[in-house]
This record gives sequence, C-alpha cells and structure tokens, in this order.
Amino acid sequence: MRQSLAMLSADDPGAAARAAALLAGGDLVAMPTETVYGLCALAASDAAVAKIFAAKGRPARNPLIVHGADVDAIRAICVLSPLAERLAQHFWPGPLTIVARRRADAAVSRLASAGGDTLAVRVPAAQPFRDVAARVGPIVAPSANRSGRVSATSAAAVAEELGGRVALIVDGGPSPIGVESTVIAMVDTPRILRPGAIAQAAIEAVIGPLTAASASASADTAASAPLASPGLLASHYAPRARLRLDVAASDVRADEGWLAFGNEASAAPAARTVRLSDARDLDEAARGLYAGLRTLDAMGVAVIAVSPIPGEGIGAAIRDRLARAAAPRPEDDM
Ligand code: TXA
Ligand code: MG
Repeated sequence: MRQSLAMLSADDPGAAARAAALLAGGDLVAMPTETVYGLCALAASDAAVAKIFAAKGRPARNPLIVHGADVDAIRAICVLSPLAERLAQHFWPGPLTIVARRRADAAVSRLASAGGDTLAVRVPAAQPFRDVAARVGPIVAPSANRSGRVSATSAAAVAEELGGRVALIVDGGPSPIGVESTVIAMVDTPRILRPGAIAQAAIEAVIGPLTAASASASADTAASAPLASPGLLASHYAPRARLRLDVAASDVRADEGWLAFGNEASAAPAARTVRLSDARDLDEAARGLYAGLRTLDAMGVAVIAVSPIPGEGIGAAIRDRLARAAAPRPEDDM
C-alpha cells in the first residue's frame, strides 16, 4: 500500500521537530540538502537503514554517506587524519564528503558502510537538515531517487521517485547546488572518488596537489575504470531516454530532445529544448542538470542530445554524471 503523501515546507517552524520524531521512530524522511534531496534514516538503526536500501532498490554493497550536525558528531564515529581535519575545517558545513576510518564503537549501522571499515561522512550546510541531525544524531542520506536513476533536486522529483515510500517530504524548493557532494577518500593517499560540488582545484588549494592517479575518477573514464568505490557503478543518474553526449548544436537531430549549454539554435524544436545556461555559466548548468533530464525524459523522447560542457570547476561533476547517465545499462547485457 502506498502511504498518502505528507509534505511540509522547510520554512515551517514545526518541520524539524516532525522530521526528527519520524526519524527517531525508524521512518524514512526526505529532506533537502544544499546539493540534492536526501532520503534520510537514523544511522544508528539497522532496521531504518535497511529501509533505505529497500526503498531505493539499492544494492547492499553500495555504502551510504553519514551526515552529522557538526564536526564533533563526525569525530565521534570516525577518525579524521590531520589532512582530513583541514578539509573539514575549510569545507564544513558544506558539500564535501570525506571517507575515513570508522571507529570500532561508532553508533552507525554496519549496513550503512556495507560491512566495510570506512565511513563516508559530511556535515551538510542545509537547514533544517542540520537541526534535525542535532536532535536525533547522525543521519544516513543517499540521494532521494530510485537506485540508478536521476537524482532529485525538488520535492516534486522526490515524490515522483519515492512518493509512497517515505513518511514525509520536507520541501526546501529547488536544490541550490544541484549536483552531489565531492567524495574524497582520506584513508591513505587523498583520492577523489566522485567529482562533485567542490572542485578539485578548491581541494588542492587546501591540502596541496593530488597525484594524477588520485584524481582518476574523471568523467570520461567513468565507464571503464575499475570501481574506485563500491558504489561507483558505471550506469547511474540515468533517465529512460538514451543520451548522446558532446553534440554540437549543428548536429542535433530534429527528433531528439536537446539539453543545451549556450544560446545557439539547433534542429530540435524549442519545446524539446532545455537550456542549462544561455550564458554558459557552469554553476547555473549544475543547478538545472537533473531537472532538465527529468523534463526531457517526461516528454518521452528516445534520445537526448547534450551540448559539450567544459570540464573545469563543477563542470567535472556535470560531465561525470552525464557520462554515467549515458553508460550502458544493466538491461543492455540481457
Ligand atoms: O550530496 C550528496 O552527497 C548527497 C546528499 C543527500 O548528501 N548524497 C549522495 O549519496 O549523493 P549517494 O548515496 O547517492 O552517494 C554516495 C556515494 C556513493 O558513490 C557511495 O558509493 C560512496 O558515496 N560511498 C559511501 N560510503 C563510502 C565508503 N565507505 N567508501 C567509499 N565510497 C563510499
Ligand atoms: Mg545517488
């Protein structure tokens, strides 16, 4: 049975208390973060964490990010190296996820770390998320989409993905960043596992240059590289339509949907064109990326052509997500 959909505005003064009460009772709640919407559960509860894997249809070997209210909450569950501390001081609260060694006595379900001895952790900037974490303790929150599908950057997109499977959706409007956090392993040599909201250059400005191998999670090798992280499956972030990447405006076909970057015209009609940024602004493009894919997908087009998007700054994350969305899907093997 589907539950009826409960939604509360993030500005509602009772939203944090309601979300906290549901989480404490073992329910799932969707809440906005500054990156994308998260599907939240109490990290300490095996039963609640198991519900996340079931609701998303997520493979059990793909671990979850644990979100804390502050750095102390994170230090209580994992060991931050001196370099990791430096990153935490600089980027938290914010969209950087650090993979660190899990403390033996961490009150975090083993399911969340897929049985491994590390934890992916971050302190999100968004309210009321942090307020809720301060009330109930660490919260696991993958992106609020069905596994392998396009991430949700609005409450409506969460409802579309997981509507009957969450007790409450907190509506904070469109996600201000629009792509997920950058994931960096800080267990041995620092290594970016997933490009994201924080650019590699910004990280290097704090902890020095990463080696070439460390920055290897680049978009264009995503489909062929060995799994850098258990969850880095090649096909991900995928709409139903097929994607054709790096297509110049002059090569877009009249029957395709077009995810455009810039203001050129193409053979695709305006009704089937979503413009990520007329001014070629990468932050604006990141904000609109997932909504654009959803919009074109909902039109039922077979193929979405995507403009070339530069790989600098947050462009690396955009290119990574597009490469995964375009990668061969499991059903292609059948
Ligand atoms: O911005 C974000 O990070 C969003 C918001 C909701 O916080 N969350 C998010 O979660 O994107 P999810 O589950 O969609 O992606 C988490 C990524 C996956 O690629 C997973 O494999 C990786 O982090 N990960 C989690 N724990 C890990 C670990 N212990 N070691 C290596 N990678 C890990
Ligand atoms: Mg995800």
